[in-house]
Amino acid sequence: MVAHQNLGLTVKVRILAGQLKNMKNIAAIILAAGKGVRMRSATPKVLHNICGRPMVSYVLDLTRELRLRTTVAVLGFGSAEVKKILPPGVKAAVQKKLVGTADAVKVALAQLKGFKGTVLILYGDIPLLKKETLDKLIRHHTYNDLDATILTAQVKNPAGYGRILRDKYSSISGIIEDKDADDVQKAIKEINTGIICFNKEKLVAALKDVRPDNRKKEYYLTDIIGLFHKKGYLIESVKIADINEALGINSRVELALANSIMQRRLNEQYMRLGVTIIDPATAFISFGTKIGLDTVIYPFTVIERDVKIGKRCFVGPFAHLREGTHLDNDVVAGNFIEITRSSLKAKTLAKHFSYIGDTRIGRNVNIGAGTVTANFDKGKKNITVINDGASIGSDTILVAPVTVGRRAVTGAGSVVVKRNIPDGVTVAGVPARVLKPKGK
Ligand code: UD1
Ligand code: CA
Repeated sequence: MVAHQNLGLTVKVRILAGQLKNMKNIAAIILAAGKGVRMRSATPKVLHNICGRPMVSYVLDLTRELRLRTTVAVLGFGSAEVKKILPPGVKAAVQKKLVGTADAVKVALAQLKGFKGTVLILYGDIPLLKKETLDKLIRHHTYNDLDATILTAQVKNPAGYGRILRDKYSSISGIIEDKDADDVQKAIKEINTGIICFNKEKLVAALKDVRPDNRKKEYYLTDIIGLFHKKGYLIESVKIADINEALGINSRVELALANSIMQRRLNEQYMRLGVTIIDPATAFISFGTKIGLDTVIYPFTVIERDVKIGKRCFVGPFAHLREGTHLDNDVVAGNFIEITRSSLKAKTLAKHFSYIGDTRIGRNVNIGAGTVTANFDKGKKNITVINDGASIGSDTILVAPVTVGRRAVTGAGSVVVKRNIPDGVTVAGVPARVLKPKGK
C-alpha cells in the first residue's frame, strides 16, 4: 500500500517536473510595434486602456502567470512610451521599420540568441486571451513535440483574418492572408488567431526564406506555416472555444467591445468574491480595485484606478471614485458623488451629492448633502482635513486649506475659507464665523 502511494507520488512529481521544465523552455514574443492606424490616435495602440489599464498589460500578465522563461516585446511606434510600462525582466526589442510580422519576430529573436525551445507568438492588441487557453496550446505543442501549433477559431465572419489552409489529408498546409485570398479561400471559416507556438531553431531557419511577395509587400510570419509544410514539419492546431478571446483591437469600436467583455469578467470576479453589484452592466470598476466583503455597488458607478474600498460600504448610485480614493469599512459614498485623492475612515457617511478632493476624513464623520471641497487654487491643490466625529452641514463649501476639528460642526450653507476650526467648535455663515465656541 505504502509502496503504491510512493509510486503514485513519484509519477506525479515527474509529471509536475516535466510541466515545469516545459514552461521554462518557452520564450514569448509579444508583437506590439504597430501604430494602430485605425485607432486614429496619437497614443500607441497598445497603450489604450481597457478597464483603466493599457491593453498590453493584460498580455504581459499572461506571460508572467505562465512563468515563461523570457518575454520579449517588439516595440516600434511610440516605443519609449510603451517601454515605460513594461514590467522588470521583460525585454524590449525595437523594430525600426514596420515591414511585417516576420520581421518583427526576427528582431525579437536577436534577443534570444542562446535560447533553445519553444517560441510563443502573442500580440499586444489581443488582450482578452485567457491563461487556460494558452496553457492548452502550449501543452498540446510540447507534449506532442510539434514544430508549429496554431491557435485557430471557427468563425461565422472570417473577413480580415488569415485563413487556415488544409491539404487533402486535412493537415494544415499554410495560412493565406485575407487580402491575398481568392474567393474559395475567402469562404474558409477557420481563421488564424495569430497566436502560434514554434520550434525555435526551425523558425529561425525558415524566417530566412520569407519573401514580401504579397499585396501588402510585407514579410508575413504566417508564410512560415507553408514553408514548414513543404519541409514535412509537424503542424497542428488547437481550436479556441470562445472567439472573443482572440478579439484583436484595431479600432475604437473594438476597444469598447473589449472593454465591456473585460468589465463583465472583472465584475463577475468581484461578485464571486462577495461584493454585491446591483447592475453589472453599469458598474465600471477599474482593474486592480480592492473591494471588501459585503460592499454594495449601486448602478452607474465609475471607479478609476488605485481605489480601495473596505467592507460593508455602499457606493453609488452615480458615484465617481477617482484615483487615490480609499474608503475604510462601513463607509457610504452615496448618490451623485465625486471623490479623488481622498481617504474616508470607518463609518463616515457622505450620502448625497458632493465633491471631495485632496481630503483626509476621519471616522464617524457626516458629510452633508452638497458639500464641496474647493481644493484648487491657481494651479495648486490644497488639502482639507476633517477630523473624527465632525459634522459638515448641507451645502458647506470648504475652501482649502481647511482643517475641521474633532466633533466640530459647520452650519448649512457655510463657506469656510482657509482656516482651522478647533475641536468641538460650531461655525456658520458666509464666510463662516464662530457661532458657538467650544463647551458653550
Ligand atoms: C495578423 C495575421 C493574420 C491573423 C491576424 C489575427 C500576419 C501576416 N497576419 O493579421 O493571419 O488572422 O493577425 O488578428 O501575421 N506588427 C509588428 N510589426 C510589423 C507588423 C505588425 O509588430 O512590422 C504587429 C502589430 O502591431 C500587431 C500585430 O503585429 O500587433 C499584427 O499585425 P497586423 O498588421 O495587425 O496583422 P493582421 O492584418 O491583423
Ligand atoms: Ca491586427
